[in-house]
Amino acid sequence: MKVDVILGLQWGDEGKGKVVDVLTPDYDIVARFQGGPNAGHTLEFEGKKYVLRSIPSGIFQGGKTNIIGNGVVLDPALFKSEVDDLKASGHDLTTRLSISKKAHLILPTHRLLDAAYEAAKGKDKIGTTGKGIGPTYTDKISRNGVRVGDILHNFEEKYAKAIARHKEILRQLNFEYDLEPLEKEWFEGIECLKKFQLIDSDHYINKNLAEGKKVLAEGAQGTMLDIDFGSYPFVTSSNTICAGACTGLGVAPRKIGEVYGIFKAYCTRVGSGPFPTELFDETGQKMRDLGHEYGSVTGRPRRCGWIDLVALRYAVMLNGVSQLIMMKSDVMDTFDTVKACVAYNIDGVETEDFPFEISDNVKPVFVELPGWKTEMTKMQSENEFPEEFNAYLAFLEEYLGVDIKIVSVGPDREQTIIREK
Ligand code: GDP
Ligand code: IMO
Ligand code: MG
Repeated sequence: MKVDVILGLQWGDEGKGKVVDVLTPDYDIVARFQGGPNAGHTLEFEGKKYVLRSIPSGIFQGGKTNIIGNGVVLDPALFKSEVDDLKASGHDLTTRLSISKKAHLILPTHRLLDAAYEAAKGKDKIGTTGKGIGPTYTDKISRNGVRVGDILHNFEEKYAKAIARHKEILRQLNFEYDLEPLEKEWFEGIECLKKFQLIDSDHYINKNLAEGKKVLAEGAQGTMLDIDFGSYPFVTSSNTICAGACTGLGVAPRKIGEVYGIFKAYCTRVGSGPFPTELFDETGQKMRDLGHEYGSVTGRPRRCGWIDLVALRYAVMLNGVSQLIMMKSDVMDTFDTVKACVAYNIDGVETEDFPFEISDNVKPVFVELPGWKTEMTKMQSENEFPEEFNAYLAFLEEYLGVDIKIVSVGPDREQTIIREK
């Protein structure tokens, strides 16, 4: 058996949580492979809405094993609040969720360092989610990290050593803080973590694959936020692309099966950094209002713009996407026309290749297509799709070279149309 991967192709918030939930019934195991509580994955069903940060989006479909993989960075305090909230709503996870011993812990001082580094950058700040993601991955790569499995061996010593190092950096940055309350909730989180199975998830996943079990890998963020290929330095600190599923779960590249690439019918971004198709006018505001484009973690308004096919085709290439999934087209149901960026004009020269860097001299070249002007949120099958909508799908498929297999026409689990392609 192979691992199928679901990942975002844009700047995050494409709707990964919803799609993982919809596809989970076909799988035995759902595993998150990177990122941390910077993610906010929203699911809606039976009139209820849930936002997951570190916990995989397969937990609501009964009887499935969910895993937090080694590539994830985990904040025990936020993890506990997520677990508590789910318990309060009737979902006890202790038997359904396992955590890799190799996942790295976000220490309370990592969050402080995140804030201190952002403050030091001033107007050049990344606009991080403030969850300590960058500093935690930095410690992992510089071989100073503390892992979930360390809770079981010499934990106090490892923790104290890391905190002392962080305090020294915070002192150099003249950053003021009060660590005590943060530490209190953090250690309560550690007690909560201990109630879960802390496993060798690499062995576990590979054994299950060998026994014919089906595994779905859930990505966080999006390809344009990838540490290597995204709009550096305005990126997150992990490999969000498909290769991240290999390193983040311990799965060999030849064991990767389908790669589901998720994109919105338009584009959004939170935080700083280039966004060539961004709209600053009332059309952008309309997308924000109709699409409720406000961050699920930070509440920040998301920047909105037309779909960027140059960036999207780059993402399809990097991930080896085998099936495309388009979300939120319903947000444009009332638009007279829709635009798609098909090339960049850079200093007078047109290119369809995503460049090394995006700066102010990159101007999007748009194609304008007729809108479908039909409410699609109650549609059940692709046979109901209006002609103009089919033309939009065909246009995207032609440009991207991959079929769009699923179309999502609303936030609810039920508002999902599988195409017969
Ligand atoms: P993720 O981080 O990729 O899981 O995406 P988020 O949950 O951060 O953001 C996606 C938002 O769009 C959530 O509020 C979803 O409930 C919502 N959503 C998902 N699919 C659709 C859709 O097809 N139409 C509409 N209108 N909303 C959707
Ligand atoms: P999901 O999984 C959208 C963005 C932040 C910031 C940059 C770096 O819900 O799609 P970080 O805190 O990771 O160091 O911030 O990345 N970012 C996201 N944007 N969706 C996300 O996750 C994101 N996670 C991080 O806004 O620009
Ligand atoms: Mg999100």
